[in-house]
Amino acid sequence: MTQDELKALVGQAAIAYVQPGSIVGVGTGSTVNHFIDALGRMPVRVAGAVSSSVQSTARLKALGIPVLEANDVTRLGVYVDGADEIDAHGCMIKGGGAALTREKICADLADKFVCIADESKRVDVLGRFPLPVEVIAIAVAQIMRRFAAMGGQPSVRANVLTDNGHPIIDVRGLSITDPEALEREINQWPGVVSVGIFARHRADVCLLGTSSGVQTLT
Ligand code: 5RP
Repeated sequence: MTQDELKALVGQAAIAYVQPGSIVGVGTGSTVNHFIDALGRMPVRVAGAVSSSVQSTARLKALGIPVLEANDVTRLGVYVDGADEIDAHGCMIKGGGAALTREKICADLADKFVCIADESKRVDVLGRFPLPVEVIAIAVAQIMRRFAAMGGQPSVRANVLTDNGHPIIDVRGLSITDPEALEREINQWPGVVSVGIFARHRADVCLLGTSSGVQTLT
C-alpha cells in the first residue's frame, strides 16, 4: 500500500469514533483530508465541525459541513487529527502543516483525541522530525538562541506565516526523551505562542495505518 492509501485507511477508520449529529473537532493535513472526505460520506452526518485551519475549513465547507468557531462550543466529544511523530505513550510532534496552535486549542476542548497516522510516524523517541514552534515575530532571535543553547539547530520556516499571522521556527537535532518537561519549559519562554510537542494534550487513541491494516494503539 502507498503512504496515501494508509492515510485513507485511517481517515475512514476514525469515523467509528464520530457520533452522528454531534460537533466534531477536525485537524489539519493530508491524513485529515481523508477523514474530512469520510465525514462527507457518513449516511447520517455530523451537525458541524470545529476546524483547526483555514485549509480544513474550506474542505469541510465544500462538503456542506457547517463550521463553528471554537468559542461557540463548550466541549467536543472527539478531536481527530494527524501527527508528524507519535511515541508509545501517545505524545506527538505536530505542526508540520503550521496549524499547531489551533490544533492545541481543539485538543484542549476535546474529551478524546484520536490520532490518525501512517506507520512511518511511529517513533520510539520524538525529535527526528524538526520540532515546529509558533512564535511572536520580535522574539524569533532570542528563542533561536535558547534552542541553540540546548543543542538544537533552529531555522525560520521560509515563506510561511500561520493562520494567526506568526512565523514558525523548526528545530532539528533534539532528542525529546521527556516530552512533558520540554513542552512545559518551552511554553514558559516569552514570545512562544505554541510548541509542537503534544504531551499534555496527547492522543488517547492512535489509529496507525500499516500494510496489514489499522492498528489501534491506546
Ligand atoms: C499540521 C499537523 C499535521 O497533523 C501533521 O503535519 C501531519 O500531516 P499529514 O497528515 O499531512 O502527514 O500537525 O499542523
